[in-house]
Amino acid sequence: MPADSYSKLVNARGVFTFRDFVLLPGRSDIEPSNVDLSINLTSKVKLNLPLVSSPMDTVTEADMAIAMARQGGIGIIHRNMSIEEQVENAKRVKRAESFIIRDVVTISPSQKVSEALDLMVKKSISGLPVVEGNDKLIGILTRRDVNFADRNEEVRAVMTGDVKVATADVTIEEAKHIMHHNRVEKLPVVDNNKKLLGLITIKDVYSREKNSLASRDSEGRLLVGASISPSDIARAKALEKYVDVLVSDVAHFHNVNVIEAAKKLTKEVGTEFIAGNIGTKEATIDIVSALDGRLSGIRAGVGSGSICITSEVTKAGAPTLFAVAQIAETLAEEKLNIPIIADGGIRAAGDATLALAAGASAVMMGNVFAGCTESPGGLIKIGGKYYKPYRGMGSTSSRQKRFAMDRYNQPAKGIAEGVEGVVPYRGDVQTVVEEFTGGLRAAFGYAGATSIRDLWKKATFGAVSAAGVDELRPHNIILPGEEKI
Ligand code: XMP
Repeated sequence: MPADSYSKLVNARGVFTFRDFVLLPGRSDIEPSNVDLSINLTSKVKLNLPLVSSPMDTVTEADMAIAMARQGGIGIIHRNMSIEEQVENAKRVKRAESFIIRDVVTISPSQKVSEALDLMVKKSISGLPVVEGNDKLIGILTRRDVNFADRNEEVRAVMTGDVKVATADVTIEEAKHIMHHNRVEKLPVVDNNKKLLGLITIKDVYSREKNSLASRDSEGRLLVGASISPSDIARAKALEKYVDVLVSDVAHFHNVNVIEAAKKLTKEVGTEFIAGNIGTKEATIDIVSALDGRLSGIRAGVGSGSICITSEVTKAGAPTLFAVAQIAETLAEEKLNIPIIADGGIRAAGDATLALAAGASAVMMGNVFAGCTESPGGLIKIGGKYYKPYRGMGSTSSRQKRFAMDRYNQPAKGIAEGVEGVVPYRGDVQTVVEEFTGGLRAAFGYAGATSIRDLWKKATFGAVSAAGVDELRPHNIILPGEEKI
């Protein structure tokens, strides 16, 4: 029988959530437009906006990850799919735009036009370099070449043989000039022996100019992450070449077996690794010492997600704001600079600001992005309004898909830890991100902070009373659509 139950209850750690606090307005000479929201998600992954879409099967596949990276954030591809499918999603992001595409889809001269057409449709591309032997470029096949060609003809008979090419040191301006001058939209990159090294497309060159804030790797490709279970080394290895960061997808990372698995994984796989989820000082100390130097970031928050019933079912939880504060303070005490991602429960820019102010480098959101055009799943019309499906990865239907089983469906976990439903349709990612960053910039202006790091120093919090929670939102007014209430 515990001798100290009463003391434990009386001395319980104060646990709080977003609605318990406000950011106190501070002395400011900051205009929202001067706020710099860029931050490092890991030491190698630099984002222009601190926004991350959750690895959930109703939130992030390739389309969402492409849209997130184009806006300056990053998407984490979910793992409720086969390894091959997850790799293909990551590859799609990497291929979506890049200055020089390295992973070029090619065709051989002896293949049939019908095969080329199938490949173009399957990979959503409009041109195929034609190579023979050791990747030697001998021509290019574009839509124009095949549109009216006999499908049984060989590629060599219809391809364009006189190909304009560039070398690997070509600049964007030079590539643009060559393409414009020769009226071509694809420019293969070759070495001195005509060996194909890559491909530049006019679409990518323009897109790069249009999306100047986009998160990109050193080759100009969009950044992307993928979620994994720390014990799934095969998945991590298959993904390592195609993603910029691997994100642990474990509801309770502060588990000896999980930490051991992560230790092994980070020794075998070179890609930066974000661990999580955790939510206490003790967990921070344990994972920092176990993963010694191989920890690139921490996913913070247990049980706060809008679809979570973990806390309801198990009474276990470390709400996101509390978790961020616990982890941030511990890392600061240990003089460690490991980025924190606040994950779960963020409904609007104000919640995100509080999470950043408490020490997070970025916020991860599922609910907010599930409502976007780019999330998987179609629109659902209910009572004249549009919605999109959203479900927890621990929900019954998500767990029925085999691949999510190890997160919420270990033998000991015979219970659902998430719910499923719909969220209002919000429009495309760009609109949602602009709305969000507008709110963040305004909040930074109130705090007098020019950047996230500056916010860490300058933010001061106010604790809101229960009565205050009501007063700090519209009250004593009937809003449009609520007339019946
Ligand atoms: P929001 O509030 O943005 O939270 O919807 C998204 C985060 O919730 C976590 N997640 C879950 N947590 N049961 C849980 O307890 C679940 O079924 C579940 N699915 C996702 C996850 O951290 C995500 O980023």
